[in-house]
Amino acid sequence: MRISVIGCGYLGAVHAACMAKLGHVVTGFDVDKEKIDALRRGEAPFFEPGLPALLTEVMATGRLSFSDDPAAVAGSNVHFVCVGTPQVSDGNAADMTYVDAAVTSLLPHLADGDLVVGKSTVPVGSAERLAEQIASTSPGATLVWNPEFLREGFAVKDTLHPDRLVYGVPEGDAGARAVEILDEVYAGPIAEGTPRIVSDYATAQLVKVAANSFLATKISFINAMAELCEATGADVTHLAEAIGHDERIGRRFLNAGLGFGGGCLPKDIRAFMARADELGVDQALSFLREVDAINLRRRSRMVTLASEELDGTLEGRRIAVLGASFKPNSDDVRDSPALDVAAKLRELGAQVVVTDPEANANAKARQPQLVFVESAEDAVVDAELVLLLTEWPEFVQLDPVALAKLVDSPRMLDGRNALDPSAWRDAGWTYRALGRGKH
Ligand code: UDX
Repeated sequence: MRISVIGCGYLGAVHAACMAKLGHVVTGFDVDKEKIDALRRGEAPFFEPGLPALLTEVMATGRLSFSDDPAAVAGSNVHFVCVGTPQVSDGNAADMTYVDAAVTSLLPHLADGDLVVGKSTVPVGSAERLAEQIASTSPGATLVWNPEFLREGFAVKDTLHPDRLVYGVPEGDAGARAVEILDEVYAGPIAEGTPRIVSDYATAQLVKVAANSFLATKISFINAMAELCEATGADVTHLAEAIGHDERIGRRFLNAGLGFGGGCLPKDIRAFMARADELGVDQALSFLREVDAINLRRRSRMVTLASEELDGTLEGRRIAVLGASFKPNSDDVRDSPALDVAAKLRELGAQVVVTDPEANANAKARQPQLVFVESAEDAVVDAELVLLLTEWPEFVQLDPVALAKLVDSPRMLDGRNALDPSAWRDAGWTYRALGRGKH
């Protein structure tokens, strides 16, 4: 099949490469020429494990090309809309500018029988509006809403082996035909053994935000328990393990720490609340306000702990921060808890030295006043306090004995509950973590 992918960010670039891997002829389009130039050279424009190798593999077949010319999508029969929906600058809603621009740029090139497949995370009701727009100029084309659930760091794996496929289709023949076409697109490793849910537009759009809201709630739940643990001297890691053994609860996404960040969970729960407000059902999602508040409180708590460890004075104190990305295996610093804490400590007068295996450049672009160095060993030299804020494997595996020789004072604050407390204490460190009382 001939496929176009509009938007070549974390979602689109990976999707385009995976579609080509399945054997389709794919054109990736993006307005960002720099991104397109990198992709044309077979380079991933961001850090995503497995993507460079996949790009090399599929570019060699000649089935994958990239363009910054909107007309390049002409001739494709299935068009995936994969652009971002960031939070608007003056509120909580999702910014639909890029989705609207993508669909508008697509309209002149649509032919009868074409399928437009929305993958972006949008406020419920957007698909219905876009379907009307498409019908008014290209009545022979059909819109499907097909949300994507990939995680950064596992994007290739999640795209090729998703947990489920969700198709939101219109009623009648057009919907039935759309299901057939999408089944053909995903035939092979993606569809094999994968549950498929066919529904209406509204449900398909809601599935994505509901899933992300649930995940965010799960993380904030355990972080709320972490607050209780701090007040009582209990240990949230043991608590998570114990409740996680109940299969109805499950251990995954119960890692207490600095909380969630990134380009999805924070903005998705806010946009969901904003949309519920518009729909007159804001009460139904009022709990998400608390989920957001608990999450942000973890960042302030980390700053308070850092200050406590340094006897209340941050001014002029040297602090090493390990991690800047919002999670390991990513160079993404959008709404990163780690970078947020580093910036707050600096605002309060500390001398903050940050290191991240992949995100230094992105982090520096956002927080140019922070000092960035290449390794944990460089970051901790003469530090009075070390903060582990993103649990990259290379930080978790650091040798506490060797590191203790480099610092001014061996004090560790583990913001991700990723280190072994006894190993660090045995090496002479004071070790404290979020949600573990004052052990
Ligand atoms: C998320 C969803 O998982 C994915 O399905 C959706 O398509 C996009 O949003 P992503 O943003 O890549 O994916 O990251 P994810 O792995 O979900 O982690 C989100 C944040 O939660 C990270 O900051 C992570 O550190 C934090 N987290 C995760 C915790 O604090 N505790 C946990 O137990 C799990």
